Amino acid sequence: MRIQITDVDPQNIDLLLRWNGILRDGYAVGRQKVWSRSDEATRLQFQNPHPTRSSVLLLAEVDGVEVGAAEAHVHPGEPADVEVAVADAFRRRGVARALLQAVRNALRSTATVMRTETYSDAGVSFARSEGMRVGVRESRQVVDLPLPPGTLDGLPGAPSGVEVISWVGACPEELLDGWARLRAHMSDDVPMGDLTRTATPADITAVRRNEERMSEQGYALVRSVARVDGEPVGYTEILLSRPDPTIVLQDDTFVEERVRGHGIGRALKIANLRRLTSVPESSGSLFLQTYTALTNAPMLALNRSVGFDEVDVLTILEGPLG
Ligand SMILES: CC(C)(COP(=O)(O)OP(=O)(O)OC[C@H]1O[C@@H](n2cnc3c(N)ncnc32)[C@H](O)[C@@H]1OP(=O)(O)O)[C@@H](O)C(=O)NCCC(=O)NCCS
Repeated sequence: MRIQITDVDPQNIDLLLRWNGILRDGYAVGRQKVWSRSDEATRLQFQNPHPTRSSVLLLAEVDGVEVGAAEAHVHPGEPADVEVAVADAFRRRGVARALLQAVRNALRSTATVMRTETYSDAGVSFARSEGMRVGVRESRQVVDLPLPPGTLDGLPGAPSGVEVISWVGACPEELLDGWARLRAHMSDDVPMGDLTRTATPADITAVRRNEERMSEQGYALVRSVARVDGEPVGYTEILLSRPDPTIVLQDDTFVEERVRGHGIGRALKIANLRRLTSVPESSGSLFLQTYTALTNAPMLALNRSVGFDEVDVLTILEGPLG
């Protein structure tokens, strides 16, 4: 048996989509209601690479058959994010090990730490066998869409003195400073277990660049901000892929510590879910997905009150790259 690892040229669209298909199918084995990056979003993402990020795309063949794929991205000074998947019928033959070795070789001079994610015991065993340790575990929770009529109306409204503003797309200019600041606080505060935390500065340029890239890749950004006395104190964001709106992603939700415990998080989520229905493509959405650390009891409870159920658990592991 001969394992051959080759680089994927992202400009070779046929190859790029086959590579994406191997990753998608590999990660989906044995799971339900799985979100994966659409072909269209994959094409657009690699057509216009991120300006400061290095990426590695690898394909593994066994005796000429394409059976495995790896994807790695790294921002300078941060841990490399690595995904590895092998077709079910070709597992336990050393394919993932060969792919990861090639990722290590490619990124040795760019990063010192790598991080990977998995939903399976096999993935955890594999990553451990490669010297990684569990950093954090997150519940992946899903609720069916559309929500039953009246679900949102039955939940408590925004607490008094709290104003919630919702929109779709780029952040309005007058909220931009607050939005950038809250996002930076979110990355300081989100439970990360033993994973390396890298500071995210409140960077307006980065917010605008991210909005542009997401919109180019076909995402509708559905957003809400909560204000108290005119001051932004929390935000939430939903991502809907216009080419494939089946699974909608509930991304960050953050409320500043000093105002927690008053229902602002719930009010944000409810307002944002209402706003989601104004995106025409959301009529084709069947599920809403969110991730919450298993240690984040308040958010798990909030999600359950909206109807979310756990479908599986994500484990993120980290270890030395060299
Ligand atoms: C995790 C995954 C990539 C492993 O691919 P693979 O090609 O079967 O892995 P390898 O054959 O290279 O395994 C290397 C080592 O990992 C460990 N390992 C891999 N699968 C395992 C399993 N099911 N149970 C226990 N250990 C396992 C073993 O130590 C193995 O060495 P050994 O076979 O000599 O005992 C594959 O199961 C997969 O695609 N899973 C879904 C995607 C995923 O979760 N990726 C996360 C990567 S961290």
